[in-house]
Formats: sequence, structure tokens, C-alpha cells
Amino acid sequence: MTNKVVLAYSGGLDTSVAVRWMQEEWGVEVYCVAVDVGQDRDVGAANDVLVARALAAGAAGCTIIDARREMAEEFCAKAILANARYEGKYPLVSALSRPVIVRHLVAEARRVGAQAVAHGCTGKGNDQVRFDVGTRTLAPDLEVLAPARVWQMTRADSVAYAAKWSIPIEATAEKIYSIDENLFGRAIECGQIEDPWEAPPEEPYTLTRVTDTSDATFTIGFEQGLPVKLDGAACPLEALLDEVGVRTGSRGFGRLDMVENRRVGIKSREVYECPGALALILAHQDLEDLTLERDVHHEKARLEPRWSELVYDGMWYSPLKAALDAFFAETQRHVTGDVRLKVSAPGVLRVEGRRSPVALYDHGLATYDAADTFRHADAEGFVRLWGLGVQTWADRQSRAGERPGPVT
Ligand code: ARG
Repeated sequence: MTNKVVLAYSGGLDTSVAVRWMQEEWGVEVYCVAVDVGQDRDVGAANDVLVARALAAGAAGCTIIDARREMAEEFCAKAILANARYEGKYPLVSALSRPVIVRHLVAEARRVGAQAVAHGCTGKGNDQVRFDVGTRTLAPDLEVLAPARVWQMTRADSVAYAAKWSIPIEATAEKIYSIDENLFGRAIECGQIEDPWEAPPEEPYTLTRVTDTSDATFTIGFEQGLPVKLDGAACPLEALLDEVGVRTGSRGFGRLDMVENRRVGIKSREVYECPGALALILAHQDLEDLTLERDVHHEKARLEPRWSELVYDGMWYSPLKAALDAFFAETQRHVTGDVRLKVSAPGVLRVEGRRSPVALYDHGLATYDAADTFRHADAEGFVRLWGLGVQTWADRQSRAGERPGPVT
């Protein structure tokens, strides 16, 4: 039987209780790993508290890992290249951070010689899928434990359990919302959001409250598909997501309200705020319009939803996802240039202009004025052949006494 377990630790009630519960019920030694993916903008101050809480709950150790840069450069970056939008809307916020956490859980399991990893997810959500499947693809020999899938405790039971074992949890009133946050945005569920007919409440939003009603215009510079500059100045992706998020979010841009299909068969109503991610994806997509060859562009657009589904479904480390990444990377070789965005309160973001040294837009070909270089005479024969098949069909139909097409 497993005797050392590495737990993905958040510092909250459930994972703190999980430390003690697994020790008591399963007789295991628990090592905690808290991975910072940008969920707390003031982590430095909270680190000591987190470690103290894990140890008070009975952990044999607690490691804090700053994975913000890795989250930005390896995970958010790929999501931008893939124009990630699950079911056409949600930019995969939580789905992107779980594989980062999994990677560190597995590394820590190897370091301490653990036979299992554990997480605090319940059986109803997608995050358990990402932890379980992610771990099994990176480390097929490790066991995955999910105490919250089996302990059958309500929140009140967990509070009582923490009190019984003197686990110091924050003395908050009943928590209304379940919120998951990282560099790509925030996912909010529970409370009145669970009624799809109810308007989303204002209170859980933090990134998209309108605090500035002036218009703002700014330019994102891209190199090979990656956003690398803000108004001409080089900027790491982590900072760019943050700064663009502040400029657009403070004008109310970046909220999503959707009913989505979870992997486990449940439809759920969730709201999101992802101003930086949505703004960068919008700009990236627009630059692709200018720089991608037509067939490549259309094929990429067909594959993008598949990529988002795979990542949503916990398949970050799957071979198909890796193959799609390789295809996307190849398409991005010439996605270089600038996109100018304009944001106005409340919540309107538009692309105002785009340019690229390798744009496929050719003014001579596109213009209707005297600078026109298009060979007009070539069009007639091309168009005649393009329509030849349907013209022949229509001709046969009418000779057979049929109407050539649908009645309009
Ligand atoms: N529904 C979203 C997803 O599956 C968000 C999940 C948020 N997780 C949470 N623990 N609140 O990616």
C-alpha cells in the first residue's frame, strides 16, 4: 500500500482537511506542494501562512513553487497560438493550470519517493479529470488519490473536522462562490450562478469592474504568433497578460457567461473574467487574418476547436495535442506584426488596425483605384471554369423538364 503521497495543496479548507484525513483514514505520510500559477497577486506575504497551515494539518513537508513564468510561456502561450476557446467561448483558464500543477506534483513525488499523488477535487468537475489523466500520462506508475471523491463530507462537516484537529482555516462565513484563478483569468461558479436564468451577480468579479470610462488605444507586437511587445516595448507574456488585462478589464471588457458541457456529462452555468487572455487572442486572430495563407488559415481554424476540447478534457500531455501544437507552430512562422486595439467602457474592445512586414494583403491587388495591379481579364475564364460543373448540372435539369434549383 501507498505510504507517501504528494498532495496538490491550495491552503484552503478542503486540501487542509485532506492532509489530516488521508493520514487518519489511509495511514499515509502527506507532502504538500503549492504551485503558484498566478492565483494570488500577493503570494509572497501568504507563503509562510500556507506552509504553517499545511504543517499544522499534519503534512510532513510543504513546498511552494513559483510556476508563473512557466504557466505563461509554455501553457498560456500555446493557448494563444491555438486561439483557445472551448465551445467557442471559454479560453481554458483552469484547464491550462492543471497540467502545470500535475508536472510539479509528479516531480515532487519522484523527489520524496512517493507512490501516489492526491488532489482535492470532487467527482463532479473537470479538474479531477485533468489531475488524474495528466498524472497517468506523465507517470503511469503513480496512483492518484482523491479524498474528496470518497469522504462524503459537507462543507459544514469539513469545518467541524478542521476544528477537531485544530487545523487553522480562515474564519470566513459560508463561501458562496467557487473561484479558480490564474494568469489567464478567473473562473467563477456556485451561488446564484447555478440558476442559468439569473443574471450573474456583480460581486465576485475583480478583474472586470469598470473603474475607467476613458477610451484607450494600444498596440500589441507579435513575433511568430507570440505577443512580445506592448506599445513598442518588449514585455514578457506574464506581464503582458496582466497589463493588457488591467487596461481592458478596468473598462469592463472580458466577461463571459456560459452554459458549458463538462467532461463528466453535466451541463453547468459558469461565468469567467479573462480580459488579458481574450484581448490577446482577439489580436492574435486578427493578425492571422492578415498573414496566413488561405488554406493554412482554414485548416487551422478547423483544428483549433479540437485542441481546446483536448485541453479541456485533460489531454494536455496526449500525442494528438502534441501533434496539433507542432502544426500550429509551423503555421505561426510568419505571424509577425502589430495589432492596434481600442477599448471603450463598458466592455467594448475592437481591433482598429493591423500591419505586418510579411502581410499577405497586397494593396495593388485589393485596390479599386488607379494603383490596381490585378489582371482583370484572367477572372472571366477562371470564374467560368469554377462554375462549369453546376452550370452543366443546371442545363441537364432544365432539359429534363426539372426546375434547375430550389424555388426561391
Ligand atoms: N468549468 C471550468 C473548467 O472546467 C472552470 C472550473 C473551475 N474550477 C474550480 N475549481 N472552480 O475549466
